[in-house]
Amino acid sequence: MQVAKTTEELQTMLLNIPREKRGFVPTMGALHPGHKSLITKAVNNGNQVIASVFVNRLQFNNTEDFNNYPKSPELDLQMLAEAGCEIVFMPEESDLFSTEQPLKKYNLGYLETTMEGKFRPGHFQGVAQVVHRLFTLTNPAMAYFGEKDFQQCMVIDKLIELEELGVKLVRCPIIREADGLAMSSRNKRLDAKSRILAAEIYRSLSRLRETILGGNSSEIMCQEEISRLESKAISVEYLQICREDSLEVASLIPPKPKGLRIFVAAYVGGIRLIDNLSVSNED
Ligand code: PAJ
Repeated sequence: MQVAKTTEELQTMLLNIPREKRGFVPTMGALHPGHKSLITKAVNNGNQVIASVFVNRLQFNNTEDFNNYPKSPELDLQMLAEAGCEIVFMPEESDLFSTEQPLKKYNLGYLETTMEGKFRPGHFQGVAQVVHRLFTLTNPAMAYFGEKDFQQCMVIDKLIELEELGVKLVRCPIIREADGLAMSSRNKRLDAKSRILAAEIYRSLSRLRETILGGNSSEIMCQEEISRLESKAISVEYLQICREDSLEVASLIPPKPKGLRIFVAAYVGGIRLIDNLSVSNED
């Protein structure tokens, strides 16, 4: 595995990989098996994999969160090599963004006004900014993103469409801990008590899913789960059932639901966690 620290080094290394073979996996490091699953999927699809490790300041709407974002570069390199990654790009901020070049404004529409867009103003502009730059530098045929950040997948689809980038986005399923907690770099910041409590988020999602599939559906159910989580000192920012294709809130849920997903963002011990779960009669 080769490590590129600058865009020049990256360009030289990329000469050996034709565009149609390039599978790109952007990350912010502090890697865990969820990230690894994206690399594995790309390798299994016949891609030669390029990963990036870069904590993107532009997508943090909270300086404390940015400053405390976990970092483990040595372990990241080990995990990437084990998974079969060929090139790792680990740039400096000054290498990706020049101070002279003004930032673009992407028209992300509704995606920017709901859930993560609503509660993290500017977040998706920051994500689009860095992913666009990384796509331009790596010029991949395919890029792999996790459904853990389902709304982010939709933002990247929109970016690809808006900028006519011709990249095929592959969505990969959420990898969870044994107790159901969705793996996340931020889980490393949970203290022991909060880590145990955090599994309640998945329990709520699973219970809601069962209730919906059992034919009982109303907004009251979401409200009940919010109250249950709040009674355990989990502070819920949103918990809602949406259509997967548009992210519009599904207020009327049909008896045999299809294409619905439950989304949640909540603070456990001061750490913000997100998760989602598909609800479909076909699951
Ligand atoms: P990061 O949070 O490091 O995640 C990198 C990729 O790993 C994303 O596509 C994310 O959805 C996926 N991922 C994280 N946890 C996962 C899990 N438990 N199961 C499956 N996939 C998982 O997302 C970002 O970084 C950044 O926003 C980025 C796209 C790199 C732009 O800065």
